[in-house]
Amino acid sequence: MKELIKRAAEDIKNARLVVALTGAGVSVESGIPPFRGKGGLWEKFDPMEIAHIDSFLANPERVWRILVAEMKGVIDKAQPNNLHKGLARLEETGNLAAIITQNVDGLHQAAGSKDVIEFHGTFAEQRCMDCEAKIPTSEVSLEVIPPRCSCGGMLRPDCVFFGEMIPSEALWRSKELAEQCDVMMVVGTSAIVEPAASMARIAKLGGATVIEMNMERTMLTGRVADYSLFGGAGKLMTGILEEMGI
Ligand code: OAD
Repeated sequence: MKELIKRAAEDIKNARLVVALTGAGVSVESGIPPFRGKGGLWEKFDPMEIAHIDSFLANPERVWRILVAEMKGVIDKAQPNNLHKGLARLEETGNLAAIITQNVDGLHQAAGSKDVIEFHGTFAEQRCMDCEAKIPTSEVSLEVIPPRCSCGGMLRPDCVFFGEMIPSEALWRSKELAEQCDVMMVVGTSAIVEPAASMARIAKLGGATVIEMNMERTMLTGRVADYSLFGGAGKLMTGILEEMGI
């Protein structure tokens, strides 16, 4: 592992443009459960039942209750961990151009990262389904479920549900960065959900070195990834920064 950490540090240091693609695994050490695997949200719920836009529209109250019970309290308490802080440090020192994140928890920004593309939107804001107003989640009263906008319209999280489009600006910028980068770090994602997972493939096709960091093997391991570092993301990140001397 020491050798691979060294290799990753060298590759990042020598790269022209580094981009990170992150998933739920980067927030596990902050106390937010992932979607798949042990303890994952999709062990308890069928994603098509709570995370599909049609389910939400069919029964917003049920989906809202689950979102509030499972997500809001956990996200509100979560603090950035060494992975989030490490990526922020890489950006600060000019070693990372941007983060493409599938997460909606805002922890990259909380750690100080400036250029964060929220591929699946954000839970930090709620959007009115009638007037399109956006309201910080912290200002939304959850006494009434589903919560309402001052115009009377129903509020929904400003996240991407299954069955919805990726925000076009996020998709185009991500594709552009994936095409242009010469190193992509892919951290804490099972790389199952599209089109996010394809960003790693686009990077690879464009000739980038794809460095995977994960607890376990994924769809990318041994195929798209040039090499994989297995372990907790925070610890791996700390090792890379130490090796880079930053
Ligand atoms: P997943 O839950 O599918 O995958 C999490 C990954 O993180 C797994 O590969 C784990 O092995 C890994 N992991 C867990 N703990 C880790 C740790 N401490 N350090 C490093 N890796 C760790 O999450 P995503 O790939 O992000 O979409 O899921 C993609 C999308 O599916 C989500 O954005 C969400 C979900 O349904 C929508 O809601 C549209």
